[in-house]
Amino acid sequence: MRQILHISDVHFGPPHLSELAAGVLTFIADRQPDLVVISGDLTQRAKPHQFKGARQFVDQIPVPSLVVPGNHDVPLYRFWERFLDPYGAYSRHFSEELEPVYRDEELLVVGINTAHGWTFKDGRIRLHRLLEVAQVLEEASPDLLKVVVAHHHLIPPPWFGTQRVLTNAYEAMDLFTSLGVDLILSGHLHQSFIGNSEEFYPQGRPPVVILHSGTTTSNRGRARERDKNTCNWIRVGSDSLLVSNFRWESSLGRFAEHSRHWYPRHSRSPYTLEGLVEPLAGEEGPPEATAILR
Ligand SMILES: [Fe+2]
Ligand SMILES: [Fe+2]
Repeated sequence: MRQILHISDVHFGPPHLSELAAGVLTFIADRQPDLVVISGDLTQRAKPHQFKGARQFVDQIPVPSLVVPGNHDVPLYRFWERFLDPYGAYSRHFSEELEPVYRDEELLVVGINTAHGWTFKDGRIRLHRLLEVAQVLEEASPDLLKVVVAHHHLIPPPWFGTQRVLTNAYEAMDLFTSLGVDLILSGHLHQSFIGNSEEFYPQGRPPVVILHSGTTTSNRGRARERDKNTCNWIRVGSDSLLVSNFRWESSLGRFAEHSRHWYPRHSRSPYTLEGLVEPLAGEEGPPEATAILR
């Protein structure tokens, strides 16, 4: 079994909340995930010292991590830099790898950069990256859990407002569902969402589970997550996925489970709960926590 912590929009800079970042590190120390995914917006304004803060934070994570950039990691007001060297600050002060891939015996996790210098807020996937990802997915063993990480969202959650999906979201989702992707992790909206591809792009194919993390460590939560901070905890079983949305509970001084969702891995059949639920029985959650089994 693998366990993944999905956090997002940590926004080093004025909106960053260091108490929450410390809470994330405690969460990681307590639960020892196999991988930590950060789905973009490391900084507020792509400034060197903000990237250095993000680097220091990630360096304190004692397990492997996979990070992709977000639109806030491209300079907004430094126009020359924005158009001529949009990822220069990211590369110099955080990482030269903009689209990392993580593999182990059970997981294949592919990062996609959806933040481009000529867009202010909306994202897109470059065609050549989509083709590269297609090849990686095609060549992967069917036994691996296949995960795609992109900062911008591919589906519109129910309280979508004016936020548009990725420009080529439909084409990307068509590809991902046809190539057996199990899970897509995104951020950007600063609101959690847990759903699946068939709810928005019905194609009659096995659905891809889609998770949006809210902002995990900033004061930029939106709508129903205004002033709230969230992350997702994913347990990968041999034939099913169990996803918990965690929310920061200031009265407890830690992240606590807010909801729980079970999904079959469609590449595996038949599927069972096979021990995933049992270890959770003794876990604490806030009184309003709900368990949702599908
Ligand atoms: Fe953000
Ligand atoms: Fe964003």
